[in-house]
Amino acid sequence: MIIQHALKTAQQCLEPVSDSPRLDAQCLLSFVLQKPSVYLRTWPEQALEPEILQAFLKLVQRRERGEPIAYILESKQFWSLDLKVSRATLIPRPETELLVEQVIRIAKQQRLKRILELGTGSGAIAIAVASELSKKQLLPQIIATDISTRALDIAKHNSKRHQQAIEFIQSDWFQSIPQQQFDLIVSNPPYVECDDVHLTQGDVRFEPVSALASGEDGLTAIRHIAEQAQSWLKHGGWLLFEHGYQQAALVRALLSENGFVDVKTIKDLAKNDRVTLAKKQ
Ligand SMILES: C[S@@+](CC[C@H](N)C(=O)[O-])C[C@H]1O[C@@H](n2cnc3c(N)ncnc32)[C@H](O)[C@@H]1O
Repeated sequence: MIIQHALKTAQQCLEPVSDSPRLDAQCLLSFVLQKPSVYLRTWPEQALEPEILQAFLKLVQRRERGEPIAYILESKQFWSLDLKVSRATLIPRPETELLVEQVIRIAKQQRLKRILELGTGSGAIAIAVASELSKKQLLPQIIATDISTRALDIAKHNSKRHQQAIEFIQSDWFQSIPQQQFDLIVSNPPYVECDDVHLTQGDVRFEPVSALASGEDGLTAIRHIAEQAQSWLKHGGWLLFEHGYQQAALVRALLSENGFVDVKTIKDLAKNDRVTLAKKQ
């Protein structure tokens, strides 16, 4: 079978399950051929070796069953970084780049020395922040934690690959972090309601529930972190959360109740409330 026909066949198989069947087919074939996608457009009539075709069709079947492309390719672009992902990690989302931007903004303005990320997953936030700040010769100490050792293994792999010195600690939120105070704490914690139907639909079905869901109202993790964070922050230190677009008012209230000031929500590119930040007095 030639490239053009293989892509067409795959695209037809993927149409019922994917919003981007053509792109998915191209990504999978590029991956199997180990060639950039421009190669597929340049050589549409090239015949595929039988073993290449077999390997491609196997990946198409996985996608047909709903598995996200990022898990099939074990890779996801985030910020300017190519990150390894696995079924132990959330697939980093583009909207999380807003959280990274805010951390970088504050870190540059205030020349922060110590940053803590809670729930690092693939390491996306910590590594993106470290890589931007190191370009400006700002080198704060960054500690990143997760409860999942399998996620931390991926995060360590990513930080080594992008040559960023980050300390990774396995911890249930603050529990196993050596006592100290930070200039800034950032978290994109699980924030979906545990009975949200979206957890059983589409690509999300393949992601770890522990990375997505957090109690009946989705706020168990944010509530816990907001209650504990004061004693882990220096005076004037910052706490930043990503949260659901409908949770901003509740998150602001939680932060105010726990003594934080200058509480503010920022919208993402889709104009949804996405990040809330606040300061310890
Ligand atoms: C929404 S994911 C965010 C992953 C990554 N920071 C990102 O933005 O792509 C939440 C992360 O929190 C971690 N997590 C869940 N419960 C935790 C807990 N009790 N303590 C520490 N981390 C936890 C999950 O394993 C997951 O990696």
